[in-house]
Amino acid sequence: MNDLLSLKKAFLVEINAVSDITGLQQLRAKYTGRKGLITAQLKALSAVPPEERPLFGKAVNDLKVYVDQIMYRKDQSLKDAEQQKRLQAEKIDITLPGKPSLSGRFHPLNRVLQEIKDIFVSMGFGIEEGPEVELDYYNFEALNIPRHHPARDMQDTFYVSDDVVLRTHTSPVQVRVMEKQRPPLKIIAPGKVYRCDADISHTPMFHQVEGLMVDSGISFSDLKGLLELFVHSFFGKDTPVRFRPSYFPFTEPSAEVDIGCIFCSGKGCRVCKTTGWLEVMGCGMVNPKVFEMSGYEPDAFTGFAFGMGVERLTMLKYAIDDIRLFYENDLRFLRQF
Ligand code: PHE
Repeated sequence: MNDLLSLKKAFLVEINAVSDITGLQQLRAKYTGRKGLITAQLKALSAVPPEERPLFGKAVNDLKVYVDQIMYRKDQSLKDAEQQKRLQAEKIDITLPGKPSLSGRFHPLNRVLQEIKDIFVSMGFGIEEGPEVELDYYNFEALNIPRHHPARDMQDTFYVSDDVVLRTHTSPVQVRVMEKQRPPLKIIAPGKVYRCDADISHTPMFHQVEGLMVDSGISFSDLKGLLELFVHSFFGKDTPVRFRPSYFPFTEPSAEVDIGCIFCSGKGCRVCKTTGWLEVMGCGMVNPKVFEMSGYEPDAFTGFAFGMGVERLTMLKYAIDDIRLFYENDLRFLRQF
């Protein structure tokens, strides 16, 4: 019985010194494990005189229950402390403001391009594409641009080889589409074009949207009506529009479409060079020679074509004065759209 008492005291001293789970495990092995001190007392029960056995047996059992209970509590408090420590380490201040996530957005040119497409698709136009590296034949020849036309000047055109160029406009798509489709035809062809030119309003690469409509009985008034409708949905329904005679080898007659200057409301300013008008695109009735070269019977069909610059339209719509801003990827600029 005295042994049990000193065992108990020794245990209490030791458990007080335990500061982690490993220490507790060692203590458990030492006292109540298979070879533990208290377990040894139970095993020694047979050596105790029979009359003392019940009392001694109960005392050993009580001690074991007591020791188990204390170790259980110690185990709980060690685990609690550990969790507290972890929680403390992982503490976050939920009252701090969150980090805003950056959301992407469409580039202004893509936005405007999408808007242009939407307007024409809503009027029944299909969308076609053509190659940016183009045969001289499609870029010039088939569009009735003769050998010594100024548009062929080396200064404007990037030549890949003698008869391959970077297309200088989207008009070659007109010919490619007519070669493979019969009228009625109603398409737009958006895409990149290239010209050897660079300043505040020109970049070597820019975007155009070509338009082509061919059927029997298409007239210049169809062209006027359609482009007026386009300008009014793109720039607003009160925007003045005028058609000014012009020249393109692949249309006859040809015209430039002007809109009333949106900067000075037509009064005349630096941007419109005091004319009150801004040029927004070229257009005209498809030249019968182009029909002929594309394999259409020139007497059977009429049609019109137009071509607009996406950068130019975007600059006018958002009053941007330097075309290079589109390609500098400056977020301060891009975030405004
Ligand atoms: N291709 C011409 C240009 O780039 C624009 C245009 C297209 C004019 C179709 C008339 C008809 O300037």
